[in-house]
Amino acid sequence: MKIFVIGSGGREHAIVWKIVRSKRVTKIFCAPGNAGIASLAECVDIPVDNIAALADFAQKNAVDLTVVGPELPLTLGIVDLFASRGLRIFGPSKAAAVLEASKVFSKELMKKYAIPTAQSRIFNLSADAREYLGEISFPVVIKADGLCAGKGVIIAEDRAAAEKAITDILDKKMFGAAGKEIVIEEFLRGEEVSVLAFSDGETVRVMPPSQDHKRIFDGDKGPNTGGMGVYSPVSVIQDSDIPRIEKEILLPTVQAMKKEGRRYVGVLYAGLMITAKGPKVLEYNVRFGDPETQAVLPRIANDLVDLIEHTVSGTLDKVRIEVSPEAAVCVVAASGGYPGDFKKGLPIVGLDAAAKLPGATVFHAGTKSEDGRIVTAGGRVLGVTAVGKDLRAAIDRAYEACSKISFDGIYYRKDIGKKGLKRMTNDQLSNVKQGK
Ligand code: AMP
Ligand code: GLY
Repeated sequence: MKIFVIGSGGREHAIVWKIVRSKRVTKIFCAPGNAGIASLAECVDIPVDNIAALADFAQKNAVDLTVVGPELPLTLGIVDLFASRGLRIFGPSKAAAVLEASKVFSKELMKKYAIPTAQSRIFNLSADAREYLGEISFPVVIKADGLCAGKGVIIAEDRAAAEKAITDILDKKMFGAAGKEIVIEEFLRGEEVSVLAFSDGETVRVMPPSQDHKRIFDGDKGPNTGGMGVYSPVSVIQDSDIPRIEKEILLPTVQAMKKEGRRYVGVLYAGLMITAKGPKVLEYNVRFGDPETQAVLPRIANDLVDLIEHTVSGTLDKVRIEVSPEAAVCVVAASGGYPGDFKKGLPIVGLDAAAKLPGATVFHAGTKSEDGRIVTAGGRVLGVTAVGKDLRAAIDRAYEACSKISFDGIYYRKDIGKKGLKRMTNDQLSNVKQGK
């Protein structure tokens, strides 16, 4: 089979790395890819938003299956376009991708179908939104409706901050058309977990849950980023919680989308807050998470192409996901200054030494080849990933791999996975106390 992967981040490198392991694959293309992906696939220089050129490429090269990484081409309707040309592609249609593209749509869907989420109200007039602030307590969460490159969510500690967010989004149009409407929602307390599942429109198959680290600094301090690292398994939820999440959140979402005439095929990513009252949906994404995929795929024993084909063919009920008992940790190495301004073009050294460590894999995100060297080309540069017999072992290996790599200004968090370790210790302590 010839497979075509769309995207250029650590997520896509992990997808390509996993697809290489499929016995059925003869050739992999990736658009546009990066320097790491180029060692496993033929990279083609087509941007992810040029969906017509991507379809032309797939047709000309007789691609058997296309796998879409990022949300942008999905929301532009790449799946509909490929389908109209008889090309097989993995991901939701434009009508289904609205689950990520519009927070107003997803909140209304959750409300209509009683899917657990934060209480919320929707506004398009700033005067009404301001008036509503008089009725609620703080902190409160204010979200622009559309895609805002991860910047459209503001946690307002007090009324003044909330009023500023309302003015910025609705009056000053800080996010343009993506901010025509806003959601004002209850602030949920708890710990976040990312649960990714395959959905063929009827059946879901849940991948091992993982936990991202969105803030730039250790201890979850500083501004939000695209994600600074991830680990799996998590201990904030147990394997035994998965059936509940499937029954209360994932299946009802897929069934709701079907009832709305927006059959959901692809990866459904539920960003959950584990509250004292159980898991609640913070957001949906319509794709694999990044960096989540870099720690989740190494824990899946199945052939990824098989899982994708069952998803696209509507036969997911015929397969089960086989999860490896090993833990996986991905530490994102970023350019100094990220998520603000940063330099590009800095040579990266030590990649081979890191990858030689047992269980370690270095996924590339913002990298490119220049004059025979690999240089930085983005904010998140690498996803330094390791598997180990348990979380402690995986963390130690991932950081050992990080220590081999350098480029000018390299920055990574030193506490990826620590929350999982701490809780495990507490759980173990309470088991001891209970005589288990
Ligand atoms: P979202 O893009 O909706 O996931 O929001 C980005 C981040 O904002 C989430 O990962 C959470 O850390 C935080 N967040 C979003 N909604 C809430 C909420 N209702 N309560 C607390 N934190 C939230
Ligand atoms: N890790 C967050 C995301 O993929 O959206």
